[in-house]
Amino acid sequence: MPGVDPKSYTSFDNQVRYAQAAERGKFQFLFVPDFPALKGDLASEPPQITIDPMLTLAAVARGTTRIGMVATGSTTFNEPYNLARQFKALDIMSHGRVGWNAVPTSDPAIAANYGRTLPPREEKYRRLHESVQVVQALWGSWAADAWAPDPVSGHFADPAKVAPINLGGQHVGSSGPLPLPPSEQGQPVIFQAGGGDQGLVVADRYASGVIGATYTIEDARAQRTALRNAAQAAGRDPDEIKFFPGLMTTLAPDRRAGLDRRIALTGQTFPQRVGHLAQMLGLRLDPARLDEPLSAAQLAAARPSPYDPRSPHALKIAREGWSLRDILAHGVIDYHPVIAGPAVEAADHMQAGSRPARRMASGCRRTSTRTASMPSSTVWCQSCRNAACSTAITKARRCATISASPVNTDSTSGSCVEPSLDKQVLIRRLASQAPATSAARWHESCPRRACDQARRRGQRVWMQSKRPVRR
Ligand SMILES: Cc1cc2nc3c(=O)[nH]c(=O)nc-3n(C[C@H](O)[C@H](O)[C@H](O)COP(=O)(O)O)c2cc1C
Repeated sequence: MPGVDPKSYTSFDNQVRYAQAAERGKFQFLFVPDFPALKGDLASEPPQITIDPMLTLAAVARGTTRIGMVATGSTTFNEPYNLARQFKALDIMSHGRVGWNAVPTSDPAIAANYGRTLPPREEKYRRLHESVQVVQALWGSWAADAWAPDPVSGHFADPAKVAPINLGGQHVGSSGPLPLPPSEQGQPVIFQAGGGDQGLVVADRYASGVIGATYTIEDARAQRTALRNAAQAAGRDPDEIKFFPGLMTTLAPDRRAGLDRRIALTGQTFPQRVGHLAQMLGLRLDPARLDEPLSAAQLAAARPSPYDPRSPHALKIAREGWSLRDILAHGVIDYHPVIAGPAVEAADHMQAGSRPARRMASGCRRTSTRTASMPSSTVWCQSCRNAACSTAITKARRCATISASPVNTDSTSGSCVEPSLDKQVLIRRLASQAPATSAARWHESCPRRACDQARRRGQRVWMQSKRPVRR
């Protein structure tokens, strides 16, 4: 990629620097994908993902203090014991800032790297369900108060409060316990990415955060509503699950500068993308005429493809008279909505996509009233309407603001005080799951009020099960 140091790919110092910048910028968490296979054109660009998600985040954990870190870990080719151990270790190392994006693998190239072929989709999801339950059980194999190290007496832990899990399903299993005490947040937070019927079930059952594959604000709203409805139907409080629709930003003083930056960074791929755009618009387009806008005849003949939800937006941009190159620079065939231009546009997009403020986020002392003196980008922060503000995986004391100007507030009451880590969400969820796994034991011994209430509702169960885990 021109203008980008290709050596960055192997520089952990750079990864830490980027994370520190995100932390300074009040980002709530980093989301790190995983794709253990080589793709793309190595002649012109390094692989799109980090060298290794867990090792990268281990470096980031040591160079940051507040930002959350969500890493992707596939359940298709990893054993739950390995996942449980690595994520818990990272959670301990980072003082409780970690989430696990549990995914099934869908690329045959990855399967081939494990000497395998991809299992059928149903089977992948059965294994995913078993894996998440075994991982959570392993994370809960130490009671919350099992670890009481005392340097004076030399006491380390109470063995009576550390127990095996003895879970075995059709695909995975583990005896446990994990050789790791609880982290400061109890255990990592589960994330799910992507929609689909099966993905929704995973999200409803385990997730506290969902990264949506959304193309438009309307799409994001529809997915979020579907998620909330399904969560309710599954007996969970929909507010426990935070939905994060994707957004790709290229910030610049104006649209032209934003498009030029995108062209400089990714323009070399545009000739190959013209074919895809042509399909979306139902036209024949010539990659050799990238600098020309569509003709009046082409615009009249264009029909958005019913098979690609991004097509109407692509046609709208084309009708604005941009050249073919600029249409592509608008990101019309990217995986999330693209904002190329001033930060305020990105802020307005996020604000437009967020739900109306029904109630204040916990502890927030700001009102959600937008006044004429506030630019929209600061209101986004102050009104706490963004899901990230109340997310459970970071200890940040302020909500994110993407405004270049200081948040418009006084210094004594200007921050949203966020519940640092939402153990109660996990506890409630674990308590509502039957049959109980050892994870419920963690709940059993937790002194917090939510657990107390759960106990009184008769949800106090602890059992070492040899039965197959629930699917
Ligand atoms: C935002 C987002 C991020 C994802 N990240 C990864 C990833 O890092 N690694 C991976 O193997 N799959 C990743 N996926 C793929 C999904 O987990 C899932 O496998 C895919 O959506 C196919 O789901 P399906 O089999 O239910 O159709 C991601 C999906 C989305 C929407």
